[in-house]
Amino acid sequence: MNYLCPSILAADFWELGRQVELVEKAGAPYLHIDVMDGMFVPSISFGMPVLESVRKRSKLFMDVHMMVAEPERYIEELIRLGADGITIHVEACDCIPETLEKIRSLGAKTGIAINPETPVSAALPYIKMVDMVLVMTVRPGFGGQAYIIDCIDKIKEVRRLIDQNCLDVKLEIDGGVTLSNLEMNLVAGANVIVTGSAIFKGDIEANVREFLKRMS
Ligand code: DX5
Ligand code: ZN
Repeated sequence: MNYLCPSILAADFWELGRQVELVEKAGAPYLHIDVMDGMFVPSISFGMPVLESVRKRSKLFMDVHMMVAEPERYIEELIRLGADGITIHVEACDCIPETLEKIRSLGAKTGIAINPETPVSAALPYIKMVDMVLVMTVRPGFGGQAYIIDCIDKIKEVRRLIDQNCLDVKLEIDGGVTLSNLEMNLVAGANVIVTGSAIFKGDIEANVREFLKRMS
């Protein structure tokens, strides 16, 4: 089973509510919420108020991607406001097991992310503690970047690890995913597909439907 996860980072924030409705109406199951702090990544995006507003009006699974240093500071608040899953970066947290445990104990799904230059081995110690591994396919911090092709081997490597150990762990990819490179990522073993620019440009509903068709 594959899951499309549109990233609202690429939405028009004047029209955020309407655009989330379109994504939901077209059948996407997840919504990707990119939180950036200007420290772990150069840019600042949005946080709690946006999450809270979307939660009030949407039933989509809210997949929160914490591009934030010391994400452990925000777990309770994110879950209280309605996050369904929280992914933290292996590069950004000094207390990963405790943080994942906290996310789980508060009832949300857990994820661990690795940057393009981080080897899969860095996530390995946590693979049995997470519901999802996120392999970044661009350097985190900005939407609309080009997919880094070298990451495909890491996707395959994570897929092998999951399958060899019969783990119930999803494999998410994030960054530069388009209709042109989707297939190759699915073949490599990704099953949660984050995409921002390729969904929120042009006809949003048609874009979601096309992705879903090619992912079924
Ligand atoms: C990048 C973010 C991504 C971003 C993807 O740092 O984590 O989720 O929104 O956007 P596109 O699909 O435009 O690369
Ligand atoms: Zn993201």
